[in-house]
Amino acid sequence: MGDQQILILGAPGAGKGTQSKRLAEEYDLEHVTTGDALRENRDMETEHGTPREYMEAGELVPDELVNEIVEEALSSADGYVLDGYPRNESQVEYLQRITDLDVVLHLEVSEETLVDRLAGRRVDPETGDNYHVEFDMPDDEEVRERLIQREDDQEETVRERLRVFEENTEPVIDHYEDHEGYVRIDGEQSPDEVWEEIKEAVDERTE
Ligand code: AP5
Ligand code: MG
Repeated sequence: MGDQQILILGAPGAGKGTQSKRLAEEYDLEHVTTGDALRENRDMETEHGTPREYMEAGELVPDELVNEIVEEALSSADGYVLDGYPRNESQVEYLQRITDLDVVLHLEVSEETLVDRLAGRRVDPETGDNYHVEFDMPDDEEVRERLIQREDDQEETVRERLRVFEENTEPVIDHYEDHEGYVRIDGEQSPDEVWEEIKEAVDERTE
């Protein structure tokens, strides 16, 4: 297993999941993603209610719960790519206490593109892989037929997720701009072009 410790930042729909999957494969890293972990446990009863209630409204799930998920996942991984966390300043402080980062990738994408990507996203319920009706459909017909839309990709929820991102997570990105491993990536390009830029940035910073 690789030992690179990578954080990937970006708005909802920026391509964090798509590129994290490639990073995890290429460098043999653990893909630690709070969104997927919460979706797998969406009906778990906690003292704050279930994750589903927050996610379907496009709101952040309480810090306590996500901090615990991340701490546990990072403690069992050498190298990792962290996707979907931290999303507010309090999560930033928590993360700083439990790990160091070698590379901080910031996928930059315009709001108009984000909305198109989220509206057209389809997910394979068996593998969790993300596809897109226009930009990226699987060749295998069996996979194509079983694709579903994520519950929080409805138009109204998308708008709320983007608002929550602007309010809570943009300050997080500002914070990491001063990190020595920070690199801005043009996320508007095709998935392969974005990947080339990411790979170059990671190789440069971790050799
Ligand atoms: P989460 O699952 O993390 O959602 P998100 O941050 O909104 O991001 P997405 O997964 O929607 O987008 P992505 O950047 O991964 O894009 P993707 O690669 O799929 O979180 C969901 C919810 O969980 C939150 O709203 C919150 O409630 C809760 N939560 C999670 N973490 C939390 C935390 N830390 N604290 C509190 N609550 C938390 O790509 C999108 C689409 O575009 C796909 O269809 C893809 O095929 C396509 N695409 C990707 N790249 C390209 C490209 N270059 N060109 C064309 N199409 C592309
Ligand atoms: Mg994702």
